[in-house]
Amino acid sequence: MEIVVRWSAPLPAEPRFLRLLDDVEQDRFGAYRQDADKRRFLTGRVLAKTVTAERLGIPLESVKFDATCDDCGKPHGRPRIPGADLTLSISHSGDLIGLAATPAVPVGLDVETATRKADEGLIEYALSPAEAQHLTGLSGEEKARAFFVYWTRKEAVMKATGKGLKIPLQSITFSRYDEPARLLASGDPALDPARTSLSDLKAADGYRAAIAVLTTEELSVTEEHWVP
Ligand SMILES: CC(C)(COP(=O)(O)OP(=O)(O)OC[C@H]1O[C@@H](n2cnc3c(N)ncnc32)[C@H](O)[C@@H]1OP(=O)(O)O)[C@@H](O)C(=O)NCCC(=O)NCCS
Repeated sequence: MEIVVRWSAPLPAEPRFLRLLDDVEQDRFGAYRQDADKRRFLTGRVLAKTVTAERLGIPLESVKFDATCDDCGKPHGRPRIPGADLTLSISHSGDLIGLAATPAVPVGLDVETATRKADEGLIEYALSPAEAQHLTGLSGEEKARAFFVYWTRKEAVMKATGKGLKIPLQSITFSRYDEPARLLASGDPALDPARTSLSDLKAADGYRAAIAVLTTEELSVTEEHWVP
């Protein structure tokens, strides 16, 4: 399966981008206090709408999303295009925003800045015993690098299932952080290792990222950096 991940730096809050937000999205944009959060949200929507318009062959202005959360009904869930066979996944961290889109099968994308530390509490919370074992003996920096390989893989599969962080992270085991990404074991029926494909991504310097697709097919991922 060929997949394109489109990355962007935060776009400016200019009328040419803001006009693409509908009323519900304008409300979400306005509710963020920090400009950086507003711009990350705006950029995710602009990326998602641009890719949707391209894939479906429809005008950009006509792309409308339903982002109703399955849990609480608020409009902060994964954006969906009613009636279209396209799944979208948005991820943002720091100055990098990404978008992946797949026809027919669910996709999950996750990016994180590489500046975060991996303390023992976080390792215990997120990693399976086998994964934690792979981190023993690594120095602080190497440990953080390895941890966030696992972390982005975990968030990517969670986002692909649409369950967010409701599957216990420790119940999932991936291949070693320095080996090609594969799901080896999962404690949740929504996540079947035989039907989950993954790839670690390059993203950009200073970031870790991964993509997961609920499919039996191998992934061939191309990453592009978008400038509107
Ligand atoms: C989805 C989730 C894993 C995102 O993690 P994150 O690393 O903080 O953020 P990311 O930037 O990678 O992803 C955010 C994007 O995920 C998407 N998203 C939201 N809920 C999602 C879900 N259940 N499944 C897949 N994608 C989801 C959205 O597009 C969101 O971006 P947007 O708000 O700009 O549209 C996390 O927010 C989560 O577990 N949410 C579900 C549970 C929850 O807390 N719900 C809120 C209370 S009801």
